[in-house]
Amino acid sequence: MSKRIAVVTGGTGGLGIAMCEALCDQGHTVIATYYPSPETEAQAKECQESMKAWGAEVLLYPLDVSSFESCQNFITTVEAEHGPVDILVNNAGITRDAPLKRMEHQQWQDVIDTNLSSMFNMSKLVFNSMCERGWGRIINISSLNGEKGQFGQANYAAAKAGIYGFTRSIALEGARKGVTVNAVSPGYIDTPMVRQVPEKVLNSIVEGIPVGRLGKPVEIARAVAFLAAEDSGFITGTNLSVNGGQYMS
Ligand code: CAA
Repeated sequence: MSKRIAVVTGGTGGLGIAMCEALCDQGHTVIATYYPSPETEAQAKECQESMKAWGAEVLLYPLDVSSFESCQNFITTVEAEHGPVDILVNNAGITRDAPLKRMEHQQWQDVIDTNLSSMFNMSKLVFNSMCERGWGRIINISSLNGEKGQFGQANYAAAKAGIYGFTRSIALEGARKGVTVNAVSPGYIDTPMVRQVPEKVLNSIVEGIPVGRLGKPVEIARAVAFLAAEDSGFITGTNLSVNGGQYMS
């Protein structure tokens, strides 16, 4: 198994931690990014320690994925300190849920910038180098709600649906260069983001999941690790839905 340089944006969040652990298990050098603020920095360091206890040595860098300039600085630093990025997991994302009648423009813009423009910001900065080196994996984390829509998530569902068009387009551009580009669409997974959904609403959502429970972060990490693997080179431009049967397309 080749040792690769892997970056997981939002790598200290609910899903990101499990992705980092899975990529460490594959033997890669794993870099987790976290949104830069004093509070998140402390949380990220705690998270790094707990991953260490599981045997996963993850490097931490602050990064605002919604800012192209922040991404440029980050990639320049990573390339200088570790070498070019081989595996990019575009995982960082936020919710700003509200029905359209109450959604403010800022709620729309923040979600589009963080969940969709980030895909361009990060992929743009690693894609040429992956193509030149003849190997790369880009895995974009979308959502069940990008596939089907969700009450109160016009911003989030639009951003997550946009990821599919982006993924398929650059999958075509990377196909002959050994660079695969795929999406993973988690359903409702037991993470702090999902736990923010009002209890009553969440209970009724869980009732609609055929598997009968929330997913686990490791169940998403498994899909990411699968797509990142050396022998997944013929899988490109696809979407892997991991949602307990809640939506079948
Ligand atoms: N379908 C139809 N009508 C709905 C509805 C639904 N799913 N949900 C709520 N409504 C109705 C309510 O019955 C209510 O109707 P009345 O005004 O006639 O009484 C009206 O809409 C207002 O509903 P709320 O009281 O819930 O409105 P609110 O402003 O308090 O809350 C909300 C709105 C914040 C969007 C809340 O409904 C909510 O949090 N929903 C869950 C959104 C969600 O699933 N987010 C996912 C977060 S996790 C994630 O995004 C990860 C991932 O990828 C899956």
